[in-house]
Amino acid sequence: MKKIAIITGASSGIGREFVKLLLREKEIHEIWAVARDKEKLSRLQKRYGERIKTFSVDLSDLDAILEFGKIIKQKKPQIKYLINSAGYAKFCSYRELSAEQTVNMIDVNCSAVAAVTLLAVPYMKRGSHILNLSSQASFQPLPYLNVYSAAKSFVRNYSRALHEELKNEGISVTAVCPGWMRTAFYRRAFIGARQTVNNFSGMARPGNVAAKALRDAKKNKDTSVYGMYVKTAHLAAKVLPQKMMMKLWMKQQNF
Ligand SMILES: NC(=O)c1ccc[n+]([C@@H]2O[C@H](COP(=O)([O-])OP(=O)(O)OC[C@H]3O[C@@H](n4cnc5c(N)ncnc54)[C@H](OP(=O)(O)O)[C@@H]3O)[C@@H](O)[C@H]2O)c1
Repeated sequence: MKKIAIITGASSGIGREFVKLLLREKEIHEIWAVARDKEKLSRLQKRYGERIKTFSVDLSDLDAILEFGKIIKQKKPQIKYLINSAGYAKFCSYRELSAEQTVNMIDVNCSAVAAVTLLAVPYMKRGSHILNLSSQASFQPLPYLNVYSAAKSFVRNYSRALHEELKNEGISVTAVCPGWMRTAFYRRAFIGARQTVNNFSGMARPGNVAAKALRDAKKNKDTSVYGMYVKTAHLAAKVLPQKMMMKLWMKQQNF
């Protein structure tokens, strides 16, 4: 039986860093790389070779996700890792997003994570790991990033609760909560809004965040937080009232 890793959002950013890290694990026969853009996926395969299998799937489309699920069912691989990395934000106020845009963001960031997880779990064994990309944005409500921060809270709570449910089966679920990372994320997030996120303190390299997340998953941790900056925010969000955390955010971003 083939041992594989499934990585959504594998063509860019931290997803791509996970591809590089898991290629070093010789027991992984194939990495199933999921994203929309076929050209980027094909470049990934050319760069990293035969062990990469590509799947162009729009994760905002449940039917497309279910089609992908049929491939899993047909091939019956042993899934050692599932990394749900695909996701995006928009830096703007509520009024600059249509209902369709808002729901699309929730679909990719939340629904797809739960759907792909449910399709993959039956093919996981003791010692398998699920890593879901949440964010520092999950620690508190973030005005002008409202849907995104709410979506990432969903991912964090979902992952931690599922971690408990899967404990007896020896499968870990880790909510990866990075602060700002240097990736292509910002190309999609900036839409030219008047009130836009503009302070990106504590920017980290995605490779470092991914390496820490994999180490934490192997230690069966339900949360992975990289770097002093995000660890401090994590602690602050535990002890300070959320209203105060929101005020700090508004001040930091000059809103
Ligand atoms: N960068 C940051 O500062 C930061 C901080 C905290 C958390 N995060 C989270 O980290 C994760 C990865 O982000 P990143 O920084 O690596 O961003 P990125 O470089 O923009 O990568 C996003 C990936 O998701 C894929 N994707 C986006 N929409 C998709 C869809 N509808 N269907 C399938 N694939 C889709 C993209 O490929 P296609 O466009 O080809 O589909 C791409 O591979 C996200 O969940 C993000 O929210 C990022």
